Amino acid sequence: MPRVTDLLGSQYPIIQGAMGVICNPELVAPVSEAGGFGLLATAFARDPEAVRDQVKATKEITKKPFGANLFVMNPLAPKFAEVFAEEGVKCVTVSVK
Ligand SMILES: Cc1cc2nc3c(=O)[nH]c(=O)nc-3n(C[C@H](O)[C@H](O)[C@H](O)COP(=O)(O)O)c2cc1C
Repeated sequence: MPRVTDLLGSQYPIIQGAMGVICNPELVAPVSEAGGFGLLATAFARDPEAVRDQVKATKEITKKPFGANLFVMNPLAPKFAEVFAEEGVKCVTVSVK
């Protein structure tokens, strides 16, 4: 069975929980820098381009892998998923409904 660290590319098998507006680039990037796996949150985002900016801002701070979260009650979640695919975000978690 593959190790989660091999799947995610992180040093440690520690995945930061997705939390609404809290998980911005300033939190996510240091988590990944420290060897965990940071997750950007998009729960209350209102603009796919703002989400793209968050992905790019995280990439500016860290070259380590990080993921993102889709909050399925946000009607723009499908658009955010497209942004993640375009920006090469390889791991996306999904909230409960
Ligand atoms: C303040 C707060 C915000 C959260 N926002 C999200 C979210 O945007 N998307 C999501 O999938 N889960 C969200 N969650 C759920 C957490 O990511 C996590 O799954 C949940 O807290 C259970 O983990 P725990 O048992 O370690 O607390 C949120 C939780 C908290 C406490």
